[in-house]
Amino acid sequence: MRAHDLLEASSRLAGFDETPADSCVAHDAGAPVRRVCAGINATTGDLLVAREMGCDTFLLHHPLAGDAKRRFHLVLARMVELMEDHGVPPAPARAAVEPLARRARFNDHLSDWGHLADAAKRIGITLLNVHLAADELGRLAMLEALRPLPEHATVADVVRALGDVPELAHPENEIIVVPESDAPRPAGRIAVMHAGGTNGGASVAEALFAHGVGTVAYIHLSGEDAGRLEARAREGHAGSLVVTGHMASDAIGMNLLLQWLREEHAVECVAYGGLAPFDGLR
Ligand SMILES: [Fe+2]
Ligand SMILES: [Fe+2]
Repeated sequence: MRAHDLLEASSRLAGFDETPADSCVAHDAGAPVRRVCAGINATTGDLLVAREMGCDTFLLHHPLAGDAKRRFHLVLARMVELMEDHGVPPAPARAAVEPLARRARFNDHLSDWGHLADAAKRIGITLLNVHLAADELGRLAMLEALRPLPEHATVADVVRALGDVPELAHPENEIIVVPESDAPRPAGRIAVMHAGGTNGGASVAEALFAHGVGTVAYIHLSGEDAGRLEARAREGHAGSLVVTGHMASDAIGMNLLLQWLREEHAVECVAYGGLAPFDGLR
């Protein structure tokens, strides 16, 4: 299997017709993919570690290199789609995402997108990243875990149900409820806002709450946005947030990809760095 085939096949596995803009082959060293070092993040040093471990390919999750880093902001359109799926009309959905999309667009523009790709080229290792497709696989796994929940489930029940996902149940992973005192409250309609590029912050959660969603699940959230949502709750506005944990949540989709590579394509995979604690959990 070649790197471009791996990229395309992983997109199809997650149900995308085209490879999402936040995923790319940053460097193809030319050899087939046989032994993969897979991680959530990577530095030039990590590429050397991968080569040291005898890997021909680094499979990265986050869009840290090449076209994926320059074009990451484009996948935030997917967050708007997810909001629409949860009943937010197009105009307020776009308005809630716009400041984030603008920030991402300028961050991508200023980024050093060539650095990691060049390091891969110089040491002769293939470097690709799979971001949105892996997150979509993770989102589907979370939805599956939530499916058995009864209609009148509480926020604490949501947290417990997510604990059926092996990566989220890792003893070092913490699932945070915002505001914390919401755990016994009815969860209402649940929106799993993963695979939208990043978390939508307070503005996306607020737009969802304003359109009938009772509980939003994010995989991470800034302390500032958590504070804003807590302040809004103190003013009597309903709406709870469940923050599932960044590395554990990203590991769900990446583990599913590794499982597919190992079982369907006989590719050797070494889970590395932030992904390593979650290896072998499925
Ligand atoms: Fe992710
Ligand atoms: Fe992530």
